[in-house]
Amino acid sequence: MAVQPAVYGASERPPRGDYTRARDDYTCAQDWAAYTAQDHDTYHRLYLRQSAQLPGLASEAFIAALPLLGAKERIPRFDDVNERLYRATRWQLVAVPGLIPEVPFFRLLAARKFPVTDWIRRPEEFEYIVEPDVFHDLFGHVPLLFNPVLADYMQRYGEGGLKAARLGACEMLARLYWYTIEFGLIREAAGLRAYGAGILSSHGELPYSVRSPEPQRLPLSLERAMRTRYKIDSYQQTYFVIDGFEQLFDLTAQDFEPLYARLRGLPEFAAGAG
Ligand code: PHE
Ligand code: FE
Repeated sequence: MAVQPAVYGASERPPRGDYTRARDDYTCAQDWAAYTAQDHDTYHRLYLRQSAQLPGLASEAFIAALPLLGAKERIPRFDDVNERLYRATRWQLVAVPGLIPEVPFFRLLAARKFPVTDWIRRPEEFEYIVEPDVFHDLFGHVPLLFNPVLADYMQRYGEGGLKAARLGACEMLARLYWYTIEFGLIREAAGLRAYGAGILSSHGELPYSVRSPEPQRLPLSLERAMRTRYKIDSYQQTYFVIDGFEQLFDLTAQDFEPLYARLRGLPEFAAGAG
């Protein structure tokens, strides 16, 4: 899965997944046998096209970990990825029918369980799909769960989400997720690179986010990110840049309760506001 429904879920369409399959915590079994040859082929073609353009655009840590997803020719079995992932960072993938509500999402993250949508887009959605599917969730998010710093950060984020839910501050925290985990850029020794899953799973936005002169790129500031609205159906107009994954930790170590209280009184920035 990607993010809580408040993030992608603004669409009017009902979600595609079959939620009758889900348990109380929204997880379900990955029905691997149900994938068709066409489903595996869609995954394979998406994987080949996207992995070919990673050098020079994707974060070094992402490129290094990508092969740990396993064979590119077919949709991985989550249990197979889990053997490697659990050994590396004690994270586990769990299947879900699609987007799930905020609190169950945060609960899974806090328990080092990453929800992955198990169905794949239709061939006619090859270029773009609004709802996260297994390609976005696996290819975009899972490689960096093998990174110890990002792995710990995601658990902290889940715990922070449960707290934000109690404080009615999910929208602010969701923006932080959006501008880091989904659309974050990182300054590496070799240059600017992408580490956000929404970028890394997008054929068009990956080169756009790193190279286009159009969007603005700001150094990550909690306050600025939490006050900046975002678009879910176009390339981002604002990206936030970090200098290393440790910076996410340092920036978010503080107690957010006073921050939420202060930001509530301040105006928001439009998605592309300078
Ligand atoms: N420090 C945040 C809080 O007190 C929790 C958090 C950690 C949020 C990491 C995001 C990422 O609420
Ligand atoms: Fe996502």
